[in-house]
Amino acid sequence: MVITRTREELYKTLEGFSKQTGKLALIPTMGNLHDGHLSLVRLAKLKASKVIATIFVNPLQFGENEDYKKYPRTEKLDVEKLKKEYCDILFIPRSGEEIFSKFEKIRTIDSGSLGSELCGKIRPGHFNGVLTVVNKLFELIKPDIAIFGAKDYQQQILIKKMAKSLHPKISLIKAPIVRSKNGVALSSRNNYLSEKEVDIASNLFKCLQKSVVSYKNNEELKNILNNAKSFLISKKLVPDYFELRDSELNLISKNNFEGNKVFLGSVTINNTRLIDNIEF
Ligand code: PAJ
Repeated sequence: MVITRTREELYKTLEGFSKQTGKLALIPTMGNLHDGHLSLVRLAKLKASKVIATIFVNPLQFGENEDYKKYPRTEKLDVEKLKKEYCDILFIPRSGEEIFSKFEKIRTIDSGSLGSELCGKIRPGHFNGVLTVVNKLFELIKPDIAIFGAKDYQQQILIKKMAKSLHPKISLIKAPIVRSKNGVALSSRNNYLSEKEVDIASNLFKCLQKSVVSYKNNEELKNILNNAKSFLISKKLVPDYFELRDSELNLISKNNFEGNKVFLGSVTINNTRLIDNIEF
């Protein structure tokens, strides 16, 4: 695996590649890699002839009181894990300057009204920060394919919308959620939880599963959502939101919506916010 730490090194490595044939797949991450991230690398290996992963904890997507400083940084382990998956290139900028150069004005990407809903309501500005860095990575790397996890469902939809207008040549792929044995969606933030709290957190997935069954049994949507929130509270999880949306995240208010849809939930446990969803 070629490790690049500056734009120059990155460009040189990519130039070498563009002379060869085949597709380049990009997997942006913030590091502290787990099996969820690595599943994206594995999928990329199937879809492209070269795979580039990036590790950058993007300050623009963290709010003032959020965990930017304490976000887990585990570079050595991450490099080993990527090597084991035969990742071809890693871009791990030696400083933020390599992404947002002081010689260029940052092009902020507006995540629109959807960017202020669901997770965006709780984290104002978060999705503008995500789109701004992903747009920059797309500009620097110019991949043919980019892969994002379904775990961050809203992020993946917003990136898809942004790419459609700004980078129409990049194909976006949504990768399925990887879970631990008890159903909890893998997340770097699970590291903040004790074993007991992870066990409690598994009730979010249970709640999503129960809600899907109830919806399929034609239960009233309003009751399903109310029951879901009561269930989460009874398990000592504080619901931030629990909603049903169509697969593009438009609101659904009726009971027999036939198209693809998704239950999305976010809960807080001991100051750590977790998200999960089920599409059906
Ligand atoms: P990060 O949280 O590191 O996630 C990187 C990618 O891994 C995202 O596409 C995310 O959806 C995916 N991922 C995380 N956990 C997963 C799981 N359990 N199963 C499947 N995929 C999973 O998301 C970000 O970083 C950042 O916002 C980023 C896009 C890199 C922009 O800074």
